[in-house]
Parts: sequence; structure tokens; C-alpha cells
Amino acid sequence: MKKYILLLFLGAQLVLRGQSSGLIADDIAVFYPENYEAERHQPSFAIKRELEIRGKIPRQWTLIPQFGYDGENSTVKIDIDEDVDLYGNGEVTGSLRRNGTSVELWNTDNYVYKKHEGKRLYQSHPWLLGVRPDGTAFGVLADNTWKQDFDLKDDIAITSYGPPFRMVIIEKNSPQEVMHALADLIGTIPMPPLWALGYQQSRYSYYPSDSVRYIAREFRKRKIPADVIWMDIDYMDGYRIFTFDKQGFPDPRKLNRDLHKLDFKSVYMIDPGVKADEDYGIYQQGTEGSHWVLDQSGNAFVGEVWPGDCVFPDYTRPETQKWWASLYGDFMKLGIDGVWNDMNEPAVFDSDNFTMPETNLHRGGGDLPQDIHRRYHNVYGMLMVKASREGILKASPGKRPFVLSRANFLGGQRYAATWTGDNLSSWEYLKLSVPMSLNLSLSGQPFNGPDIGGFSKNADGDLLAHWTAIGVYFPFCRNHSSKNTTSQEPWAFGETIEDASRKAINRRYKLLPYLYTLFRKAHTAGTPVMQPVFFADVKDLSLRGEEETFLLGEDLLIIPQWAERPHLPGGKWETIPFEEEQDDYQATVKLRPGAIVPIADEVFQSTEDYNTRKIVLLINPDEEGKASGTLYDDEGNGFGFEKGIYSLHRFTGSADDNEVRVEIKQTEGSRKLRRVYKIGYIHDGLITYSDWSADEVITLSLEK
Ligand code: NOJ
Repeated sequence: MKKYILLLFLGAQLVLRGQSSGLIADDIAVFYPENYEAERHQPSFAIKRELEIRGKIPRQWTLIPQFGYDGENSTVKIDIDEDVDLYGNGEVTGSLRRNGTSVELWNTDNYVYKKHEGKRLYQSHPWLLGVRPDGTAFGVLADNTWKQDFDLKDDIAITSYGPPFRMVIIEKNSPQEVMHALADLIGTIPMPPLWALGYQQSRYSYYPSDSVRYIAREFRKRKIPADVIWMDIDYMDGYRIFTFDKQGFPDPRKLNRDLHKLDFKSVYMIDPGVKADEDYGIYQQGTEGSHWVLDQSGNAFVGEVWPGDCVFPDYTRPETQKWWASLYGDFMKLGIDGVWNDMNEPAVFDSDNFTMPETNLHRGGGDLPQDIHRRYHNVYGMLMVKASREGILKASPGKRPFVLSRANFLGGQRYAATWTGDNLSSWEYLKLSVPMSLNLSLSGQPFNGPDIGGFSKNADGDLLAHWTAIGVYFPFCRNHSSKNTTSQEPWAFGETIEDASRKAINRRYKLLPYLYTLFRKAHTAGTPVMQPVFFADVKDLSLRGEEETFLLGEDLLIIPQWAERPHLPGGKWETIPFEEEQDDYQATVKLRPGAIVPIADEVFQSTEDYNTRKIVLLINPDEEGKASGTLYDDEGNGFGFEKGIYSLHRFTGSADDNEVRVEIKQTEGSRKLRRVYKIGYIHDGLITYSDWSADEVITLSLEK
């Protein structure tokens, strides 16, 4: 590192000369390069508020970006100590720890992650979390949408194929604090509808609509809880978005009604590519409104996607945003519950790099200046889902929108949840899904998960059961598989696999009170739902690379059956003895010492049945006999919670040799609900229950 000291010194001088670098908060600094041109970068896509300089960067500040620019490409280098562990960088393949890796931030339709050695995926997060041996942590955010590479082989080196950009550096006492500071800058997820936390079933594609009904009925008949069925592209008429195939989906309104009767929600796919077909209404409207991205010569750019030749909405234009949003009006009125925006990197089949040329033109408008595709490529999906969300909200102002997006950018969690694209039905991809989802979670996107069972190729029963057994603890929980693959529903491989899947999914529904509370924390504070194990003890260096096991919130540790050599945090974590007997697939779920986790007393078949009238408080007192926890509850949909119609309860527990005691207090919200609780005290692997009680203090006597 020594060779950089001189450079660092020069870098510091440069920064100090720079007109507007400085502190924007106590522990957050923004650094501007010399040749910074605001109009090439602002308004920021990632950061949701203006950055105001409040003070000078203190002398002892160590992380100082060194900027470079050759008139075309710009670079940033940040020296870091060798013992720093790096995480984040968004949707990435490979290890949880990012040290020694490199990624290319250029949103790419990357089937089974094989293109560009898996270094370029569907989303871009120019963001890193660094954790020092003593547990103090920092965040590095490149406020830059242009094509760029992150190289972490030696320190942090960013090369961007665009103009010089500003850097934001966060310094905090812990990685958790860094995540909260990031959320303060880039925003958090909107509160999702409760049903989006349920188990979801998808396939490319369920066709015709009767097979959708059949799938829904099977779930109910077999008593496998589920909330959502997904409609992939084949529901459309010739892949024309916002249309329906007359043969297969003649009456979508009736289909949705039938699904609702079975307590299912429906999510339908909408891609950005619009079939260039003179007889197609959306194409006509878009052409009339001049809504398409232009090529270098100023003509609408045409590229091939599923329907053949397509044109692509230019979402940088405010008029196009509005038009796109308006398309959801009639669509959502058919009883559609959620929208799946796919192929929005955007994917273009007949091109060298699977997307549109970097020289294409986006006309912008409002705050956004006109510029080339290389600047706006990485935010194309983000702009699309922003408009989709607005349109869906406008169509049903009383409901919380749900959008799932394949492409996105740092900060895009404000508009859509995500999944990790086209994975493969194999053990390698099952194992990969843990660090992938963790790094996305550490990049501001808590609502994510893989295609459970794997998308490409055939799953077998064993793989599906193992994948479902851990998939139910991921924030987004959906089974999806590709065309020409074997069926992948939980019952597709016989009774043993079906039983194992049911048990796992039952557990997710039992955990909903806790899970929903975690989503509330993600919404209010940006706390990741899925967390790396090292969050449990940031000073235990043996946990820093742990990527087989993970935390669900801070209180539950999930250990897959296949975990070979997991590094687990110290302290007496207790295994939750779920009611049903263990099988060869279920993950071990451990409760943190000092935690109280609220779970449901019964299994619900969908979130339509969900209620919190009877809550079991799982408690594992710490060495001092103390424990605490919270429960968030609201109407599960709508915006009443914004007006205080919710409840937040705090549980404070204590235990000695004679008694376990939990005090219950509503600390927030005006929602009152008569609720009974019982304590489930876990000690040495055994669980002891108290009686049900509606009192504010419940006790469990331990006397023999
Ligand atoms: C690509 C998506 O990644 C996949 O999930 C989907 O099934 C296909 N497009 C077809 O729409």
C-alpha cells in the first residue's frame, strides 16, 4: 500500500482544491473530481435528495478517491487496507466477499450467467460495503450511471466509459450503520402488499388459462400454502404487450376472478419492447406520441425481441413516462394484482451485445438532459419500473403496487422488487443463490430472491426440495422454470418431495408475523431482510466469508442441510423445534440469544387467511436472562399505515430459574386488535409453552 501514500497525498490536495467536496453529514463525504459536469450526471438516479455540503472533510479522513480522466474515460481509485472485507456491488456471481473480484456494470440479459464470465448481470449497483477487522465499516458509492467496471483485485478501482463522476463515502461504526446511511441516501422499498411475501408459483408459461386454474386448485387441494400465480409471455397475443391471446386467455377478467375466489393473486408480465406492427394500437399510440428511443440518425430504433421487430419506449421523456403509466389503467382493471417487468436491460436479440447500440439517443426532458444510450442504459429498467409503479398506483390508488423487475440500478428498490434472472437447475446455482441474494441485500435491494428450483434445464426432486427448504427464508419466494423443462410444482416429483415442500412453505407462513416486521424495518430504515452471518458478530473474522448459511433479520439463523462447514456465530443460539418432525431437507432455524420472535400459531393457506390474533412469542433469553423483540402489523394492503393505522408492539423478556416473563407494549400506531399471546421458551433444544393470555405481562413458570 505504501506506494500509494504519495498518490493519496496528491489526491487529498486535489480534493481539497476541488470547489465543492465536503461533508454532507457527520460521517458522510462527497468528493467531486476536477472536471465534474453536473449535467452529465444529475439529477442523480441513485441518490434521492440534493447533497448539501455542511462542513469540511476532516484531516483524519482516510478514504479519499483519486480521480483520473483522459478526456473520454474516467477513473477512481481508493486505497484500502489489505484486511478490509468488501461486499455488495449488487447482483453478482461468485463469492460473498468481493475482494479480488471484478464486475462490469452494464445491465445484460445473461442467460445462466454464462456471458462475460458472469461478471455482467441484469442490474448495476455502483456500491461497496467495506468492513474492517474491528467491525467499523464504510460505504463507497459511485454516483454514476455510465458504463463502468469495478475492479477489486487490488484496492478499489473504478473505470467508467464516460465523464468524471462524484463519489460518496460513508464512514460508520458498523456495517449495519452503513446500510442505514445508504438507505437515507437512496431510499428504501415501499411497503409491499402482504400477499407479495407469500409463496409464489410461476412457469414460462402456464398456458392456457385453464392450466392456471388447475395449478391454483392443486395448491388448495394439497394444502400447500401459496399466494400468487404468474403469467409469463404466452398469455399475450403474439407477445404484444397489454394484449391477451384469444385462444388461451379469452377472458382474463374471469380468470383473475376465479383465482381470487381461490385466494390467489395474479401477476402478469409486461416487457418494454413494443411489436413494430402498424395494426397494433400500442404501437400506433407510441409512434404518434413519438415515444421511441432513437437511433443515431434520429429514426425509431428497431430491434428484435420475442414478438420480432420491436421499438422501445424512451422512458427518459416525461411524456413517455406518463403514457407508459397510463397503459396500466385498463390493464389493472381486469383484476390483475401485480406486474412483472422483464427484458428491461433492455434485451435485444439481434445485436452483438444483446442490447441496443450505445450511440442510440434518449431525448430526456424535464430534469433529464438528452444523451446517448451509454449514459442511460443502466437506468433503462429503473425508469421503466418507476413509470410502471406510478401507473399501477394510479389505476388502484388504494392498493400497494407490486412490481418485479429483472433490470434495475442502485436505488431502484424504491420502485420494484427483483429476482436474480435466468439461473439453472443445479446444485451449483442453488448454492450460488445465497451469496447472490446477500450481496443484493447489501446493495440496498432487500426484496429479492432466485428462481426456486432453477429456471433452465430440469430440476430433480431432491434439488427442488433442498431449494424450497431454504428458498422459503429468502425475501422473495417464487418457484419458476423455463419452457421445455419438466414440471416444477411442489408435487411434481412425488410424495416425499411434496411433503418436504409443504413443510418448508408452512414454516414461511408461520414466520409471517416476523417476516412482515422485517419488511417494515426494510421500509422504514433500510435494514436488510436477509443478512450475512457476520452481521451477528462483526468482530468475529471467521464469519466474514460465511455464505452457506444466512440470517433472516437479526434473530434467525438459517442453516441449510447441505451446509458443509458453516462458520456460525458464538453464543447459545437455540434450534426452533417446528411442530412437524424433521426430514432430509428442512433447514435448521436457530434463534439468537436475546431474541423474541413472534410467529403465528397456525398455518395459513394464503395471506388472505392471515391474522395475528394468536401469536407465539419464541424466546431465547441471553446470558443475563434478557430478551426483546417487536411485532409490526397493519391491514396488509392499502395506505392506512401511513396515517398511523398499524401497530408496533415491543416485547421485553426476562428469565430466571423459576420463571420466564414477557412484557408487551404497543409502542406505535393507532391500530388496536384483541390478541392473545403465549410464550414459547426454547432452552437446550426443548420448547415449553405458557398458557394463552391477553394480558400485558405473560409468565411461564419453570418450577417442576
Ligand atoms: C426471461 C426471464 O428471465 C424469464 O424468467 C422468463 O420466463 C422469460 N424471459 C420469458 O418471458
